[in-house]
Amino acid sequence: MPEQVLDARKRPLRDLRISVTDRCNFRCRYCMPAEIFGTDYPFLPRHKLLTFEEITRLVGIFTSLGVEKIRITGGEPLMRRDLPELIRMIRQVEGVRDIAMTTNGSLLAKHAKALKQAGLDRVTVSLDSLDDERFGRINDRGYRVQDILRGIDAAAETGMLVKINMVVQRGVNDQDILPMARYFREKGHILRFIEFMDVGNSNGWKLDQVVPSSEIVQMIHKEMPLMPIEPNYFGEVASRYRYAGTNQEIGFISSVTQAFCSTCTRARLSAEGKMYNCLFASSGEDLRGPLREGKSDEEIRELIQSIWVRRDDRYSEQRLKQTPGLSHRSKVEMSHIGG
Ligand code: GTP
Ligand code: 5AD
Ligand code: SF4
Ligand code: SF4
Repeated sequence: MPEQVLDARKRPLRDLRISVTDRCNFRCRYCMPAEIFGTDYPFLPRHKLLTFEEITRLVGIFTSLGVEKIRITGGEPLMRRDLPELIRMIRQVEGVRDIAMTTNGSLLAKHAKALKQAGLDRVTVSLDSLDDERFGRINDRGYRVQDILRGIDAAAETGMLVKINMVVQRGVNDQDILPMARYFREKGHILRFIEFMDVGNSNGWKLDQVVPSSEIVQMIHKEMPLMPIEPNYFGEVASRYRYAGTNQEIGFISSVTQAFCSTCTRARLSAEGKMYNCLFASSGEDLRGPLREGKSDEEIRELIQSIWVRRDDRYSEQRLKQTPGLSHRSKVEMSHIGG
């Protein structure tokens, strides 16, 4: 049995979210606005990225500290060449119970089969609108809704569990809430609405752009009655509901209005090998250096453990209390550590 390591707020380490690239083929305004992430943006050069071997070795060390769930993210993870090979390598690590991936879905139709064969259990596809004009404006690169729906279908056909994430922004895509709910209810995929968050320093976040989950629940409930259901596991991020009279699930991620820091079991690893204790951390701790300096597994394990036991992060809870100066603090960009 792996050891259970608790942080300073008694939260165990259970999930590791691994960013495999800081690049993306989309330029969503709330994540990588084109005027900042332009052609001259200094993306990470290849030699700074953790290799698949380095990532797999770290996964083995993290599982010895209690990690069971792995989520592959980006940027857009499918921009990283040979990604199925990494999935295959991680699948072989003892203690890994679940491997999921967060993707924008644009390259999924091409890769779904290989990913499934490599051992990927689940995919979560981000999709913020079913309207081509709005979706085009959101991704800012001319991708069409059909491209993503094809990817979703391809993933579902392989037998992988598919979830859909929609970030809701008032005045941008709130008119898509009901069409999205209707469409994915029909399709049988779990749709989750995410409150727009102030991640990074470049997305121009304002509180009045957040549509509280409670408002979305009400809106959907009026047309398609909802029944709350119990969480699947300790620390689940989404509040779950079922459409009454069906087994079809829908979820709400209230990262702004009902922070879930008290049960946060997630560590994050950036593509360049820094460990972050929080989505809103201002800095990470370098693991690539020790890996490349030839440190032993035991030495790296001790380092990771010492980072986790000191962990006191609870940004979203502090934001709720409007701690002065918090939103002006420098934060890691979402494209570095995924969602
Ligand atoms: P499963 O329950 O394993 O399917 O995944 P999940 O609920 O962790 O979902 P996912 O990774 O798709 O996360 C959905 C979204 O919730 C992310 O894109 C973030 O926007 C938000 N989120 C996830 N984890 C955190 C977190 O630790 N803190 C905050 N503030 N938001 C988070
Ligand atoms: N607020 C909430 N969710 C966000 N995501 C990206 N930026 C934000 C934000 N500012 C979501 C994406 C995707 C996942 C990687 O994180 O839509 O689902
Ligand atoms: Fe790319 Fe996802 Fe960020 Fe959009 S939210 S720019 S798809 S990483
Ligand atoms: Fe975890 Fe930080 Fe998100 Fe809170 S804000 S749930 S501590 S990642």
